Amino acid sequence: MTGTTITDDAAQNPAGAGPAGEAKLVVDSVTVEYSTRKGTVHAVSDVSLDVPHGTTLALVGESGCGKSSLGRAMLQLPRPTSGSVRVDDTDLTTLSGSALKSARKMIQMVFQDPISSLNPRRTVRDIVAEGLEIQGTGGSRADIRQKVDAALEAVGLDPQHAGDRRPSEFSGGQCQRIALARALVLEPEVLVCDEPVSALDVSVQAQILNLLEDMKERYRLTMVFISHDLSVVHNIADKVAVMYLGTVCEVADTETLYRSPAHPYTMLLISSAPTLSGTLADTLGEAPITATSSELPSPLDPPSGCRFRTRCPRATEICASERPLLTDIAPGHKVACHHPFEEIR
Ligand SMILES: Nc1ncnc2c1ncn2[C@@H]1O[C@H](COP(=O)(O)OP(=O)(O)OP(=O)(O)O)[C@@H](O)[C@H]1O
Ligand SMILES: [Mg+2]
Repeated sequence: MTGTTITDDAAQNPAGAGPAGEAKLVVDSVTVEYSTRKGTVHAVSDVSLDVPHGTTLALVGESGCGKSSLGRAMLQLPRPTSGSVRVDDTDLTTLSGSALKSARKMIQMVFQDPISSLNPRRTVRDIVAEGLEIQGTGGSRADIRQKVDAALEAVGLDPQHAGDRRPSEFSGGQCQRIALARALVLEPEVLVCDEPVSALDVSVQAQILNLLEDMKERYRLTMVFISHDLSVVHNIADKVAVMYLGTVCEVADTETLYRSPAHPYTMLLISSAPTLSGTLADTLGEAPITATSSELPSPLDPPSGCRFRTRCPRATEICASERPLLTDIAPGHKVACHHPFEEIR
C-alpha cells in the first residue's frame, strides 16, 4: 500500500503501543449467564485472564464451552452478568452510552461465521464504513472512503473491484477479509477473532492466518484468537487458555501447553487433535488419556466442584466437592485441577 492512509498512520503511531509485557486486556472474574425458559445457562463462570500488550491469547475448547460468550463479553456485547473487562485503564463494564461507544473503538471483534456477520443488503464499502459512521470520527465522506479503501487494500482486497459489491458475491475467505477490514478500519488496540478460519478450506485457512499475523505486526495489535481446534492456534498464539464448560482449566504459554499439558482435559484435547497427538505421544511414549464419557454436561446444570469430573479418568471425591482454583504450577503455567499431570521436562 502506498501514500498516507489511515492504516499507515496507525502502523507508524499505533494507538495500541504500550510497554511490552504489561497487560493490555484484563478480564477479571467474568461471568456470563443467559436466562432461558429452561433455566439459567451458565455460559462463563468466574473467568479471569490477562493478555499482555502486543501478544495473542488463544481461547480453545469444544463447542458450547463459552468461548464466544466470553469474547463477546469482552466487547460488552452483551455486558457480562458480573466481573470487569479493562483495556489499559479503561474499565468497559462501568461505561454506557456514548462513553462505551467511544471506548469500543479500542476493542473490535471479527465474529464467528464470516458470511452471516455481514449485512447481505449493503455494499462492502458501506459495511466497512459503518463503524466509522457510528463512531462519528471518520471525517468527511471523502475521508471515510479513503480510510475504507485503505483498510480493504490492507486485507488484500481491491477496493475498485470489491467496494461496490455485496457479500454474497464473495467466498468465505474473502468475507473473512471484509470482516477483518471492518474491524481494522477503526484502528483498534485489541482484536477479538472468533473462529476466524474454522469455516474455511484448509488452503484458505493458511492465507487468513498469515494475514492475521501480518495485521498483528503492522498495527501492533493485542489479540484474542478463539478456536475449537488446538492445532490451528499452535503457530499464532503466545499463550493458550483452555476452556471447559464455562471455566478456564489451564493457561500456559503455547510451547509449555503443548509440551507439558497438566489438566486431563487439555491432555484429551491434544490427544484427539490428529496433527498434535503424535507430538505429545512422542513425549509421553503413548496416547495419554481417554475420557470416561463423551457427553458434555448441560450448562443449565453444570457438575459441582470440577466441571470436568464427570468425564475425567482421574476424578476422586474431592473433585465433586471442591471447585479447583486456577493455580500456578510453574512460571506462566496455571492449572485448575486437584490431580494435575506433573510437568514433563
Ligand atoms: N444468547 C444465548 N441465549 C441462551 N444461551 C446461549 C446464548 N448464547 C450462547 N448460549 C449458550 O451458552 C453456552 C456457551 O455458548 P458459546 O456460543 O459461548 O460457546 P462456544 O464455545 O463459542 O461454542 P462454539 O464452539 O459452538 O461456537 C452454550 O450452551 C450455548 O448454547
Ligand atoms: Mg462460538
